[in-house]
Amino acid sequence: MTDLYAVVGNPIGHSKSPVIHNSFAEQTGEDLFYKAILAPLDGFDTEVKRFMAHGGQGLNVTVPFKENAYRLADELTPRARRARAVNTLKRLENGRLLADNTDGAGLVRDLTVNNGVAIKGKRVLLLGAGGAVRGVLQPLLEQQPAEIVIANRTISKAQDLASDFSDLGQLSGQGFADLEGVFDIIINGTSASLAGELPPLPEGLLNAKTVCYDMMYSTQTTVFNAWATRQGALKTIDGLGMLVEQAAEAFTLWRGVRPDTTRVMLELRGERRR
Ligand code: ATR
Repeated sequence: MTDLYAVVGNPIGHSKSPVIHNSFAEQTGEDLFYKAILAPLDGFDTEVKRFMAHGGQGLNVTVPFKENAYRLADELTPRARRARAVNTLKRLENGRLLADNTDGAGLVRDLTVNNGVAIKGKRVLLLGAGGAVRGVLQPLLEQQPAEIVIANRTISKAQDLASDFSDLGQLSGQGFADLEGVFDIIINGTSASLAGELPPLPEGLLNAKTVCYDMMYSTQTTVFNAWATRQGALKTIDGLGMLVEQAAEAFTLWRGVRPDTTRVMLELRGERRR
């Protein structure tokens, strides 16, 4: 019988997850169907339970329910526990819900494998201190960068986040105005881009060897990546690859088969040019 999967969010209309996962299923020959579910803002738990009761095998979870999913889970992977947010739920054979967060692994894989950017030994700047940044910190630190600096508009949030993960590597938190020196990799995890805004970044953070990564993607160049290009960055990358790679991680957890991400990435890039 065809296994059922879905992504739950609100809003959900523009989600690319159904296209990505149905493409993975076709490519790997896995017998599954993946759809999108719009859950009411106060109805996430009910929606998940209903889906699982009707034979659902797994879910992806997106804005604004990642923390609800964290609370609902029966079992958490270590990285999901650290992130305090969950983007993947898997129904285990005993009916319990296993929860994972594959966002950070998706980011790391897009940087290192798809773009050939090593993180080990590098000086990394992370912009923002919300859920998106918390979600990627453990996998980034596992790559053993020389240092990660978290910079945020609300300085205390950057400091708190740095102290929460300080057992995993060299990490500090501060405000944008206090940033000093050149970074090898700058990752934008603020939601400023969504509003077409740019965090107030000082000059001199990057040079011609710096790689800049916006965790957001859009049909146009993001404001952050446009800034990075103007500042002379070596390379700018948007979050489409991260989206596809976090999906591949989830698919692997569910099915035990790792899909090839190249084809669907090309399909989505083609779609963006139309
Ligand atoms: P998400 O889950 O996307 O991370 P969030 O938890 O609300 O969402 O966090 C949003 C992040 O973007 C925060 O770091 C926020 O800064 P504050 O903690 O100071 O609120 C940051 N952010 C949002 N709009 C911003 C802007 N215009 N300039 C700079 N930072 C911004």
